Amino acid sequence: MPQIIDGKAISTAIKDELKKEVAENNIKATLAVIQVGNDPASTVYVGNKKKACEYIGIGSRSYELPEETTEAELLKLIDDLNRDDGINGILVQLPVPDHIDEHKIIERISPQKDVDGFSPESVGNLCIGREGFVSCTPAGIIELLKRSGISIEGRECVVIGRSNIVGKPMALLLLANNGTVTVCHSRTVNLKEICKRADILIAAVGRPRMINRDYVKEGAVVIDVGIHRMDNGKLCGDVDYDDVSDIVSAITPVPGGVGPMTIAMLMYNCVKAARQVK
Ligand code: GUN
Repeated sequence: MPQIIDGKAISTAIKDELKKEVAENNIKATLAVIQVGNDPASTVYVGNKKKACEYIGIGSRSYELPEETTEAELLKLIDDLNRDDGINGILVQLPVPDHIDEHKIIERISPQKDVDGFSPESVGNLCIGREGFVSCTPAGIIELLKRSGISIEGRECVVIGRSNIVGKPMALLLLANNGTVTVCHSRTVNLKEICKRADILIAAVGRPRMINRDYVKEGAVVIDVGIHRMDNGKLCGDVDYDDVSDIVSAITPVPGGVGPMTIAMLMYNCVKAARQVK
């Protein structure tokens, strides 16, 4: 039986630590959450983020903007929130509608309030090993590994996926933790062979159950970032869990693995943002 990495329990532990810190130090944090349009998945994510704020004792202010919101209107709201001393963190739920330039929006958020860690300054700091906000999903994966007693140093880490939100910052974080890192993507030749080298395999491919035992070395640690709804209504990840579970040493389930960690690390970033202005 592999070690099942319990993201729900670990995320709860992190949220409880933050809740205690907020209460004991009388930290006043408020997160502004902006959603443009009403993509159902985004509505669920945004709702969960607001619930987590409430649990920890962080305020949240919601901006639910119509699909037709212009880029200029959204930029104006961000400018107002950047100037607002009552707001420590600003989050614009992605994706934004096609008529809005995502990069322009991300760049406009003050780096001091960039709790998603998506701004060029935050990414640059991560790249050169300076303190800053780190993208929540990859930061959560590092916490999962550390709190499960899995060491990264010197190990072969393979990341499948090169998105700005997960793949690239994941590679940088593994490198910062002294892993030996390979990043694979849709154009990678010999994907199976490269994945089979991994001591730690991070699957952020975006394709349901693509990663089966042909991609996994005996004894590897497998982290599944994907989440997909199957025709039968159940959730699955990028990894074919049942196919690999007898050869891995540790694995994250879907749901209950990486997913809850993203929100826990967002809360961590919100508390960090509030600590910085104290
Ligand atoms: N869309 C999917 N994941 C995320 C995330 O972590 N932050 C934001 N703002 N949007 C997302």
